[in-house]
Amino acid sequence: IDAIAQDIRTASRFDGVDLQALAGHLPTPFHAYSASAIRDRISSLQRALHGTDALICYAVKANSSLAILNLMHEHGVGADIVSSGELWRALRAGIPPERIVFSGVGKSEQEIAEALAARILRFNVESHDELLTLQRLAASIGITAHAAVRINPDVDALTHAKISTGKAENKFGVSIEEARRWFAEKASLSHVQLDGLHVHIGSQILSLEPYREAFRRVAQFWRELEAAGHAIASIDVGGGVGVRYREGHDHPVDAAAYVSVVRTALEGFKGRLLFEPGRYLVAEAGVLLTRVIRVKHGEHRKFLVLDAAMNDLLRPSLYDAWHDIVPVHGETRTMTEYDIVGPVCETGDTFARGRAMPECVAGDLLMIRTTGAYGASMSSTYNSRPLAAEVLLDRGRYAVVRQRQSFEDMIAGEQPARHWETA
Ligand code: LLP
Repeated sequence: IDAIAQDIRTASRFDGVDLQALAGHLPTPFHAYSASAIRDRISSLQRALHGTDALICYAVKANSSLAILNLMHEHGVGADIVSSGELWRALRAGIPPERIVFSGVGKSEQEIAEALAARILRFNVESHDELLTLQRLAASIGITAHAAVRINPDVDALTHAKISTGKAENKFGVSIEEARRWFAEKASLSHVQLDGLHVHIGSQILSLEPYREAFRRVAQFWRELEAAGHAIASIDVGGGVGVRYREGHDHPVDAAAYVSVVRTALEGFKGRLLFEPGRYLVAEAGVLLTRVIRVKHGEHRKFLVLDAAMNDLLRPSLYDAWHDIVPVHGETRTMTEYDIVGPVCETGDTFARGRAMPECVAGDLLMIRTTGAYGASMSSTYNSRPLAAEVLLDRGRYAVVRQRQSFEDMIAGEQPARHWETA
């Protein structure tokens, strides 16, 4: 990743591709992803897991681009899905069902039935109602579903409240007391094999401490279950490993340190470990390329108005998230402070406030960094702005992996109310 990081700092090339030249071929804004950087992340996790019975199931929600799912599949990575749409994408990218796990509090009957029919590896079950639904639907087609109970360990992940999932007040998972009852009654489940534990405490986690605490609680419960004669075939430790959004400020944990926390907590566990990283694998591998439309001098502030907006990258608007923004011209210019905004008609369409930047002029190419995760996947057509193109870069070459949406694509399925019916 180091060569790439260097590339990003100097900000003229990304994965060996000249970004000015690339932006000469493709209209901005567009997302660019480095295949090399993604491969590096996959292999550092795989290296850390060497010698362990482990399966990495990439959290598709982070970036569900088919090209990225293909890349995951090429490296033996499976998928953690949360909807039928994600199941469909994962299968379409060639990921085999035996490498797919299904998480989420709101799996509908339709979605459970589809995942059963596809014969996915395992369901991470989040409520008793869901467990009974899974049993009923599995029985109706005569197959046995493998299930893990998602434990809510009631720990604070020390991250943004909107992406924290492991506190008792959050909607996710069930308490250990409730999970204990599920195991005690599991004989009544004729078509669900309840033989796994799952935990995911939140996202963009930059400290190992919350993991240590969560895994300690899960491990203790696993030992208790084993002692009571319940075989546990797999423990899914979720995702959440944080990345660097702000150079010199965020200090992410490395894969080896994280894996060693898992290993230490689960010492003696003979089953399979499942991992569900999303952000860690793709975030730093992505940048959003955008041009300055104009520099606007307001009464009190200077605004840099970009051609990218909150519909292309929602994180700053939704979570006040910081993303480094760097010019792609390599010139030395005087520093100044800008509010960096998009063209969308609301004040929340702001990427940064009072950000120190080299002076910019209209037409300058900039990149917003660390947008590979929860960037394109959370984008919308708000303000009728078509979805941006996505490009995969790989050692000096590039491939457009999603065309910029046309206006026709954008209104696909819409029609004026011509055919009125009564319900
Ligand atoms: N497993 C489960 C059950 C999850 O809910 C998530 C993410 C992951 C794995 C992957 O987490 P990661 O490794 O990417 O942290 N939109 C937010 C992040 C939402 C995360 C939702 N769940 C953001 O932009 O920060």
